[in-house]
Amino acid sequence: MAAPSPPPPSLIQSITVPLLFFLFLLPPLQSNPATSPIIELPHTLSATTISVVDFGATGDGVHYDTSAIQSAIDSCPALSPCHVTFPPGRTYLTATIRLKSGVILDIQEGATLLGGPRLEDYPKEQNKWYVVLAENASNVGISGGGVVDGQGLKFVTRFDERKNVMVSWNWTGACLGDECRPRLVGFINCRNVNLSKLSLRQPAYWCLHIVQCENVLIQDVSIYGDFNTPNNDGIDIEDSNNTVITRCHIDTGDDAICPKTNTGPLYNLTVTNSWIRTKSSAIKLGSASWFDFKGLVFDNITIVDSHRGLGFQIRDGGNVSDITFSNINISTRYYDPSWWGRAEPIYVTTCPRNSNSKEGSISNLLFVNITSTSENGVFLSGSKGGLLSDLRFINLNLTYRRWTNYAGGLVDYRPGCQGLVNHSTAGIIMEHIDGLVIDNVNMRWSDEPLRQWNDPLDFRSSTVNNISLLNFHSSLFVQPVKEGERERLGRSTE
Ligand SMILES: *[C@@H]1O[C@H](CO)[C@@H](O)[C@H](O)[C@H]1NC(C)=O
Ligand SMILES: *[C@@H]1O[C@H](CO)[C@@H](O)[C@H](O)[C@H]1NC(C)=O
Ligand SMILES: *[C@@H]1O[C@H](CO)[C@@H](O)[C@H](O)[C@H]1NC(C)=O
Ligand SMILES: *[C@@H]1O[C@H](CO)[C@@H](O)[C@H](O)[C@H]1NC(C)=O
Ligand SMILES: *[C@@H]1O[C@H](CO)[C@@H](O)[C@H](O)[C@H]1NC(C)=O
Ligand SMILES: *[C@@H]1O[C@H](CO)[C@@H](O)[C@H](O)[C@H]1NC(C)=O
Ligand SMILES: *[C@@H]1O[C@H](CO)[C@@H](O)[C@H](O)[C@H]1NC(C)=O
Ligand SMILES: *[C@@H]1O[C@H](CO)[C@@H](O)[C@H](O)[C@H]1NC(C)=O
Ligand SMILES: *[C@@H]1O[C@H](CO)[C@@H](O)[C@H](O)[C@H]1NC(C)=O
Ligand SMILES: *[C@@H]1O[C@H](CO)[C@@H](O)[C@H](O)[C@H]1NC(C)=O
Ligand SMILES: *[C@@H]1O[C@H](CO)[C@@H](O)[C@H](O)[C@H]1NC(C)=O
Ligand SMILES: *[C@@H]1O[C@H](CO)[C@@H](O)[C@H](O)[C@H]1NC(C)=O
Repeated sequence: MAAPSPPPPSLIQSITVPLLFFLFLLPPLQSNPATSPIIELPHTLSATTISVVDFGATGDGVHYDTSAIQSAIDSCPALSPCHVTFPPGRTYLTATIRLKSGVILDIQEGATLLGGPRLEDYPKEQNKWYVVLAENASNVGISGGGVVDGQGLKFVTRFDERKNVMVSWNWTGACLGDECRPRLVGFINCRNVNLSKLSLRQPAYWCLHIVQCENVLIQDVSIYGDFNTPNNDGIDIEDSNNTVITRCHIDTGDDAICPKTNTGPLYNLTVTNSWIRTKSSAIKLGSASWFDFKGLVFDNITIVDSHRGLGFQIRDGGNVSDITFSNINISTRYYDPSWWGRAEPIYVTTCPRNSNSKEGSISNLLFVNITSTSENGVFLSGSKGGLLSDLRFINLNLTYRRWTNYAGGLVDYRPGCQGLVNHSTAGIIMEHIDGLVIDNVNMRWSDEPLRQWNDPLDFRSSTVNNISLLNFHSSLFVQPVKEGERERLGRSTE
């Protein structure tokens, strides 16, 4: 469809608004010239509002509105805030659209931006395969209460409750393996990003990807991905500083919040007041971990029905320090072992990816006020050259209970290392640690614990040094099984 000519100026409304955006997370912007915004704008500017409908978008969900949307964005004046609105009651089908500095997509409640499912809907370069892409932009974002939908189910070639089999565009040579699909929303090398009041649905691959950015706010975002689809991560934060995630609701098949380091370090990520359900890890640092992670805070998070709760897979030599998890309620269970994770509420490892990988270290981790109910124990495994040090577990209630039929008794080192290893299940397994405090930790073993596990703590003094137990408690715990639960979960009545 050809781009219609821009509308007359009367269709573009100008409103003067205070630019709140730049007040957010100011200290790093002011104090460090290296992190100042690409474009410096004065604090009060005339904001422009443009509707994609005025540029010819039909919003019928059938015809591509790509050029109308892109023309609306491109018509935004340089150097000032510009809201590109998608009026409600319509579905705007699109190929990749690109944001530029100053542009906020205002997808209104009741409007859906729908990503195309065809290879030709995406750019030639595989690393630009997103439905919405912002690159090298500042003061950009998406808000409005509406939906961005990636039509992920159209990429399923075979539905399978264990794990769906997905289309792969690997035959193009753009990428290999079965992970060759478009992501939903990407911000690459951006400053001052605001993603607020937004619903992201059915990504074909990763959902929200933040790469090499500074000052990103992700607030009131709800993410929904198919539970059986692999690689549909919730939020992947890569090589970025000063990210805030708050009041988010994430329900997806693969990792929900996943900080990674590929080309540079990651500093200052704060995640609060959020809810997560995933068939993989709820929070996972790694597994790409080539550079450091420092200054991460996770507070007031509920994790339900997940395959792993709080995870560190530090495989590639990056060093991790100063990480706090507080006020977290975790429930983890087994799923099919083709998904990484073995129902561990907490999982920490520096086991290198392969024999050529460097070993990174993890230090100064604090877990405080954590409640969990899980089908497996905590797993803490440093490696010979990548010690875990200065770990503190304070005020934990760990309840161990089996309620699915999947076999236990395996330790999961994937990817790399020994893979899946037979090992008896324990409350906390520890290896290669120097400095561990367990303070006010309460383990409760539910009605049938002795079938497959019986060791509260599993460690050797040759690899775990300087461990202290203060106010440690372990006891049997009888919890009534709720009416109908056994049947629902398919547990045999042996
Ligand atoms: C981010 O966008 C939301 C929704 O438009 C707005 O309410 C909020 O003030 C913005 N936050 C910042 C820090 O600019
Ligand atoms: C973004 O910046 C990078 C690095 O400077 C450059 O290679 C790339 O072409 C830029 N992309 C766009 C769309 O401006
Ligand atoms: C391409 O992806 C399919 C899965 O959709 C997979 O079966 C196949 O092995 C992949 N081919 C290559 C060369 O990686
Ligand atoms: C994040 O901060 C570190 C340390 O100052 C810096 O090396 C890195 O380049 C920053 N990253 C970005 C994306 O600005
Ligand atoms: C991380 O946050 C601290 C404390 O607010 C700040 O001093 C530091 O500059 C931040 N780091 C980066 C790389 O922005
Ligand atoms: C914790 O997060 C939930 C949302 O998941 C919110 O309703 C609640 O108010 C938060 N609690 C505190 C103390 O902030
Ligand atoms: C991690 O720390 C070790 C020991 O200090 C150091 O040799 C290594 O270079 C660090 N890794 C990175 C990616 O900076
Ligand atoms: C943890 O969440 C479960 C529901 O997932 C709830 O039943 C339980 O009361 C919560 N525990 C705490 C301490 O908040
Ligand atoms: C652990 O359980 C005790 C006793 O039931 C309770 O007082 C305490 O608040 C709980 N702590 C956490 C972190 O859930
Ligand atoms: C842990 O919980 C206690 C009791 O609820 C509370 O007083 C304390 O502030 C919490 N600690 C943190 C770090 O949130
Ligand atoms: C033992 O570990 C604790 C907690 O990490 C640390 O504070 C203390 O300094 C360590 N003591 C020795 C002797 O290394
Ligand atoms: C692990 O245990 C299973 C079941 O007992 C057994 O079939 C398998 O051979 C064992 N694997 C190894 C590597 O010992």
